[in-house]
Amino acid sequence: MSFTLKGKSALVTGSGRGIGRAIATRLAHSGAAVMINDLDQEALQETECLLRLSGHPNVHHLAGDLTDPSFPDQLIKGTLEALGSIDIIVNNAGYSWDSVIQKTTDEQFQAMLDIHVVTPFRILRAASGYIRETAKAEIAAGKHVMRKVVNITSIAGTEGNPGQAGYSSGKAGVIGLTKTMAKEWGRYNVNVNVVGFGLIETRLTQALGSEDAKMEMHGHQIKLGVQPALLEAAKHSCALGRLGTPEEAAGAVLFFCSPLSDYVTGEVLICGGGFHL
Ligand SMILES: NC(=O)c1ccc[n+]([C@@H]2O[C@H](COP(=O)([O-])OP(=O)(O)OC[C@H]3O[C@@H](n4cnc5c(N)ncnc54)[C@H](O)[C@@H]3O)[C@@H](O)[C@H]2O)c1
Repeated sequence: MSFTLKGKSALVTGSGRGIGRAIATRLAHSGAAVMINDLDQEALQETECLLRLSGHPNVHHLAGDLTDPSFPDQLIKGTLEALGSIDIIVNNAGYSWDSVIQKTTDEQFQAMLDIHVVTPFRILRAASGYIRETAKAEIAAGKHVMRKVVNITSIAGTEGNPGQAGYSSGKAGVIGLTKTMAKEWGRYNVNVNVVGFGLIETRLTQALGSEDAKMEMHGHQIKLGVQPALLEAAKHSCALGRLGTPEEAAGAVLFFCSPLSDYVTGEVLICGGGFHL
């Protein structure tokens, strides 16, 4: 490895399973102290156990629903209390709640905006005081310290996808947030980028109807997953001929968390094996 994240502190949302867990693992393996968060307390504790068992004692967790308007402030405060600093923020938490537009309720559409764009906005706003004040002090002391924000989008956000009006709108919105924050925070030495995934093997992309392909959110049982025929078609039309693994997805995120991307900001990196909708 040509870099280390030793001495860096990272916050990864939605890290109880899937891509978030893989990102937290990659960051910990690279030397960072990590705050993990998820709505699902059991899954979160499993991630923490796995990280500790693989030799990473510097892991803390804070369970909670990121769409509760007061929680992003608590999460940033809790991260600073536990880790002492925040150098890397990965806004990863997300889910899909799909329907064709005529069947999409206001609540459903708003829920997709809330988790995919309002939550990253609130987290970054909550961290802004710390980031600005710390960077100003570092710059005044002649220190050059880069911080990293990585948001997560999807090819549904960059290309659109039938049945995902809400999801694709939220995922498109977070690209605008990313590009704006790159411009606002460049002066504070923060790289703000976004990684967009194609199809990565997680709970979200299981064959529709499988036992685990569901989640409960605000009293709704939400079906997750992709039509099996669509999954097969996707494999065939994908340049690499397969879905990606969470570890591969986390690799693209790690690039933006590392010094290798110190002169890259406001960019969208698609990690999709060459698959397009
Ligand atoms: N898997 C894919 O193919 C794919 C493709 C494009 C984009 N993405 C994006 O990648 C990210 C990770 O997805 P994944 O595939 O790992 O899904 P996943 O379901 O395996 O993991 C997502 C985690 O986020 C958590 N979460 C959801 N809402 C939350 C909330 N309000 N508060 C706290 N935690 C919350 C869930 O509990 C879950 O543990 C999401 O933003 C998703 O939209 C995934």
